[in-house]
Amino acid sequence: MTKITDSLTLPCGQIIKNRVCKAAMTERIALGNNFTNEKHIELYRKWGAGDIGILLTGNVQVHRENLEGPANIAIEENSYQEQLPMLKKWAEVSKAEGSKVWMQISHAGRQTPGEINMSPMSPSSVQLKIPGRKYGKPVPMTEEDIQDVIRRFVFTAKVARESGFDGIQLHSAHGYLLSQFLSPDINQRTDAWGGTIENRTRIHLEIIKRCREEVGSDFAISVKMNSADFQKGGFSSEDSIEVAKILSNSGIDNLEISGGTYEQPRLLGLDKVSINPERSENRRESTVAREAYFLSYAEKIAEAVDIPLMVTGGFRTKEGMEAALGDGACQIVGVGRPLCANPYAIKELLNGEINQLPKFEKTLSIGPWLLSPSSPFRLIQAINAFSAQAWFYQQIKKMSSGKMPDLALKPFKAFRNDAKEDQTAILEYKKN
Ligand SMILES: Cc1cc2nc3c(=O)[nH]c(=O)nc-3n(C[C@H](O)[C@H](O)[C@H](O)COP(=O)(O)O)c2cc1C
Repeated sequence: MTKITDSLTLPCGQIIKNRVCKAAMTERIALGNNFTNEKHIELYRKWGAGDIGILLTGNVQVHRENLEGPANIAIEENSYQEQLPMLKKWAEVSKAEGSKVWMQISHAGRQTPGEINMSPMSPSSVQLKIPGRKYGKPVPMTEEDIQDVIRRFVFTAKVARESGFDGIQLHSAHGYLLSQFLSPDINQRTDAWGGTIENRTRIHLEIIKRCREEVGSDFAISVKMNSADFQKGGFSSEDSIEVAKILSNSGIDNLEISGGTYEQPRLLGLDKVSINPERSENRRESTVAREAYFLSYAEKIAEAVDIPLMVTGGFRTKEGMEAALGDGACQIVGVGRPLCANPYAIKELLNGEINQLPKFEKTLSIGPWLLSPSSPFRLIQAINAFSAQAWFYQQIKKMSSGKMPDLALKPFKAFRNDAKEDQTAILEYKKN
């Protein structure tokens, strides 16, 4: 019976001290120049003291014009030397008490906010539509654009290694650029980068092969992938098994399973919410009844591949985590939101001070039925989902400024604060 306190050796030889990974959560605290700063250091000093096997950073962007949010970190060739000392400090503080630290690397593609870029890159021109949010019509990538993006991912991986990180993760979940390539309804290309599942996975294989050449054999390379997008005609669970098989032969150390997109936020367990109902599949899965959201998918993937898997979404108890490890659904469990409410929650769970991680997502609904997460009104559903999300962003910002989370914060206040701070971040971004 595998315990969460058991160590794990990855194919690259890296030893992880226990089976818990802090899931990637975008920090959005890199104001203006998109550089790492003291706030990241403060934040990861807390998580680094939390007895967590792996700390996965929030998504670090490979292209400053295709961010997921205006205060993301971006690493670019012409300016990386300037932020190298702070990147080194970030890795160092994260590892101070024995955690490994992996940098999640991403490109937002068509999910780049319109305030940043009204002509984002994407495999094809299928535009994202979310009530209350602005997204531009994507420009289909040329061959040169694709080669440039591959170079940028590889360059960022090289900088991660040079800065002292122990690994990288390619973000190919939740509707960002790499998952746009995987999705048959968003990737409508007819060249070598679209069509068959092999073609839709080609960009991943190119990036992984060239990353491995740059970073060497003892550095962890992970991929985060959706079990499904839950979109009509989109990336399906059958597709995900095929992609997992392809990726498992590419020399990666770990595959993380999540699911959903901005249009269908299953990654947060919001299984009744469909922000874009024309495109969403409303099929409910048996996994909903279990503690973690994507376990039954992960079990199918585990049968098809032979690399360590991580499942993220919904884990809140030691029993739930050890059941998933024991069933062979995964070798690592990812934990996100509870660590925004208490950065030391894993340490406390492992030493028996608490018997479950903080559970907040179900209490974040703004009010009565009309405003509930399953409201039939799309704008209200979207505000609800954004408010819940803003609550976690606000806690991350609090921790990064030296404070502890404020559990009494009201979701709607978090939403308002976050919207205001986003405006400031956009102005700062535009000044640079
Ligand atoms: C505030 C916040 C930011 C997030 N940012 C990212 C991100 O940058 N990259 C990513 O892959 N997932 C991101 N996620 C999703 C989490 O990694 C995770 O999949 C999700 O929170 C479900 O896990 P949980 O139930 O343990 O929170 C984010 C989630 C939250 C709440």
